[in-house]
Amino acid sequence: MNEKTINIGLIGFGTIGSGVIEIFNQNIDLIQEKVGKEIILKKVVDLDITTDRGVEISPEKLSTDIDEILEDPEISIVIELIGGYEPAFSFIIKALKNGKNVVTANKALLAKYWKEVISTAEKNNVRIAFEASVGGGIPLLQPLNESLAANNFNGIYGIINGTANYILSKMSEKELNLDDVLKEAQEKGYAEQDPTFDIEGHDTAQKLIILTILGFGTYLTQDKFHVEGITQITPLDIKFTSKNLGYVTKLLGISRKIDGELEVRVHPTLIPHNHLLASVNDVFNGVYLIGDAVGPVMMYGQGAGMMPTASAIMGDCIDIINNPNKKINYGPPKKIEERIKSMDDVVSKYYIRLNAIDQPGVLHNLSGILSNFNISLESVNQDKNEKNDAIPIFLVTHKAYEKDIRNAINEIDQLPQIQAPSTLIRILDE
Ligand code: HSE
Repeated sequence: MNEKTINIGLIGFGTIGSGVIEIFNQNIDLIQEKVGKEIILKKVVDLDITTDRGVEISPEKLSTDIDEILEDPEISIVIELIGGYEPAFSFIIKALKNGKNVVTANKALLAKYWKEVISTAEKNNVRIAFEASVGGGIPLLQPLNESLAANNFNGIYGIINGTANYILSKMSEKELNLDDVLKEAQEKGYAEQDPTFDIEGHDTAQKLIILTILGFGTYLTQDKFHVEGITQITPLDIKFTSKNLGYVTKLLGISRKIDGELEVRVHPTLIPHNHLLASVNDVFNGVYLIGDAVGPVMMYGQGAGMMPTASAIMGDCIDIINNPNKKINYGPPKKIEERIKSMDDVVSKYYIRLNAIDQPGVLHNLSGILSNFNISLESVNQDKNEKNDAIPIFLVTHKAYEKDIRNAINEIDQLPQIQAPSTLIRILDE
């Protein structure tokens, strides 16, 4: 960018938008010094420009008319922070077609419309930057795209949803069930009023799609991989696996290369206590990746929130100003269906909790079914039966095929001594 003055337009005066304004108010001198240009936040557009967001902004910068950004030839960078698919998609496409660079945190939109958005940016010789879309304030995508671009990645493992991580951390700390922690998290403003996307794993899946594109050059849609949330996790599972087996329970997005195929999945995962990801607690996010040259790398920080996310947004603006012609380093479009491993063929160790009536022959029946499916057990534990009703039996398997485990559990759940459904959690195995 040759201009001495860079004009930025901000679409969306919500929490993150207010954070961007706050960074302008607090740090713009520092940023201008670093970039060597004057940077002006020229316009902020939102449907609601009257609610007090607690940040200072002169009223003439506020507008409800989107064209004051999209049709202003002086604005060269548009920040989109309204989220969702529409009208965000139309605004982004129009901005790109009008020759404007775009900065967004919108992972849902990128995960769904990746090809359209990227090709529109390329055709119009402008940049789309989205560091804030995964891991909030953590510098993650730029390192993947640049500093680590010389690597083939063996695997990318991400705790990338702060809400789910907060809930699991508190369930573990306080031995509470999910609903109670969720209620407290909502009261504190850590969880959305409708937390479905976070706790059912969809938010993690969208972010994992972006990591998979940058890490493996593979674009895929959410229907092509297994996505499972945390709603089946109980304090009993968390406590038993922590105290007796040495694991912490995390909602993990996994994207990794196995025998030339890509394995992509989102599910609760038992992680050994001494693994770096095990110490990512509360609303923090962590991404652990392994490159063939660099080896393991861990990135950690605040994955959401007003100022951390605004930090990533402003970082993208600075990068665009400094490097307007930079390319996104992803591979050519591939036939992804050929490359994604079916969940049935995934191999893992498993933790299984069964609720069994305490009668002779239960373990005999179980071991018969497990051996029919070639499943070998690493450990079996049973609680003392004090009440004379169903008791939990905790199994840990050696490595087994997912399809065998599922088929075995289906059969086990039919046994008259078993109170279905049994609980299944996969164990991390890098
Ligand atoms: N809802 C997300 C989370 C934050 O809980 O991590 C935005 O990506």
